[in-house]
Amino acid sequence: MPRGLFITLEGLDGSGKTTQIKRLAAWMQKRGLDHIVTRQPGGTATGDRIRALLLDSRSAALAPMTEMALMFADRAQAIAEVIEPALAAGRIVLCDRFTDSTEAYQGGGRELGSQVVLDLHRLICGNLQPDITLLLLPSLDASLSRARNRNHRQTQQTGQDENRFEQEQDAFYSRVWQKYREIAAREPNRVILIEGNLGIDEVHEQIVEAISEHLVTAGHTS
Ligand code: TMP
Repeated sequence: MPRGLFITLEGLDGSGKTTQIKRLAAWMQKRGLDHIVTRQPGGTATGDRIRALLLDSRSAALAPMTEMALMFADRAQAIAEVIEPALAAGRIVLCDRFTDSTEAYQGGGRELGSQVVLDLHRLICGNLQPDITLLLLPSLDASLSRARNRNHRQTQQTGQDENRFEQEQDAFYSRVWQKYREIAAREPNRVILIEGNLGIDEVHEQIVEAISEHLVTAGHTS
């Protein structure tokens, strides 16, 4: 049984990843390509509990190291329970976020650095690497304005100072964005960078083109 393909989608919050993963799954479905869709954090019963803990705890100033450890705890469970069994059965795994998110958000955004993330990935995840990573990276301005809208909604809900929150988010997202670019430059063979403020259809076309090529090369289709 040939091993399946491990495909991850990455990008800032609001980059359109979730829409694109749904479109890609529908495209695979039409072609009879055996696949599963999963996400991180989450994707297993334990992972969903870790996800809830992560989201709840954020407002209570979760320490960056705790946040990173929980991301890896979630990932170890997802690999053991969902990802590895599917790959071993020859299936395509479409995963919404993986370790690049930890490197970008905790390594970059929270300033823990790349090395600790890569070391933990080796230790906890057996250094499992995606075959292909689709990185959706609209301009930082577009990403920031999306993040601001979200923050504005959050500010309304929580009553926090809007400007201070926005400023923190600017610096944070800027570091996440830069780290994603760094990862793409470091691993050009794995990471397909889809840049610019493109429409949903345009991004889908670029994704399908990249995936089609890879499927042919990997012998999953002709
Ligand atoms: P999602 O909204 O794409 O499901 O992701 C939830 C949030 O978790 C998002 O803001 C990115 C963040 N995240 C990290 O900070 N580190 C990680 O390793 C992962 C997987 C997600």
